[in-house]
Amino acid sequence: MRAPDTPRAIATGASPTVTGAIETRRSTRAFLPDPVPAEILREILSTASRAASGGNLQPWRLYVLIGAARDRLVDAVALKRKVKPLDGLEYDIYPRDLTEPYTTRRGRVAQAMYELVGIARDDHDARNAQMAKNFEFFGAPVGMILCIDRQMGPPQFCDLGLFLGNLMLLARERGLHTCPQEAWSLWSQTIREVVGVPDNDLVFCGISLGYADPSDPINALRSERAPLEDFASFLHE
Ligand SMILES: Cc1cc2nc3c(=O)[nH]c(=O)nc-3n(C[C@H](O)[C@H](O)[C@H](O)COP(=O)(O)O)c2cc1C
Repeated sequence: MRAPDTPRAIATGASPTVTGAIETRRSTRAFLPDPVPAEILREILSTASRAASGGNLQPWRLYVLIGAARDRLVDAVALKRKVKPLDGLEYDIYPRDLTEPYTTRRGRVAQAMYELVGIARDDHDARNAQMAKNFEFFGAPVGMILCIDRQMGPPQFCDLGLFLGNLMLLARERGLHTCPQEAWSLWSQTIREVVGVPDNDLVFCGISLGYADPSDPINALRSERAPLEDFASFLHE
């Protein structure tokens, strides 16, 4: 495994090329409160729906929360977190017996993130407080909840990922950043109550969207990647 990528300042400008958008996208965990113009948001979401999907099912179902609607969900979860850590598991976020190299990768990115913000490995309160920021959409003015009909299976979850990827890259094209958040699936019942997601839709993830706060050290995290040879096999004969 390579040495971790060194922390690098987050790009706050627009990245107009696909390569630039991919290179400058990162999971952003501190946002400025500046609002996102409604027209830009609509453009990003409409264009993201050009994602390919098997049979053109377009299985994504998105709830976009802004202003009071966003705050209502954040407040509802904050209230419930005082008495319990989660509503329940909507799905297993990771395989129960995750094996190598995945456990190491998962541990390393978490460790790199906590180091950047000065949280020690055994400081459970500080880790919990950092985790709680998920449920404030990390301060982003736009919070989204991405759902999928429960009848769907692996092919359609892939479609959902393509939509999500488009959304995140289109955000970069407009100088915005995002954070996809499976953590929101832990509060699916509250989301159903507050947002009105029907029972037959699975709450897959939340997405924070807004302008990154370049002064917050957490946004300097540049997660590492395995080299090409580790995941691609080139067969010539
Ligand atoms: C579907 C999905 C769900 C994720 N859920 C969370 C989450 O709940 N909270 C969080 O801080 N990061 C979350 N992440 C971000 C990952 O930790 C991140 O993508 C990974 O560490 C690679 O870093 P990068 O996105 O900065 O390249 C999620 C990413 C994906 C794709």
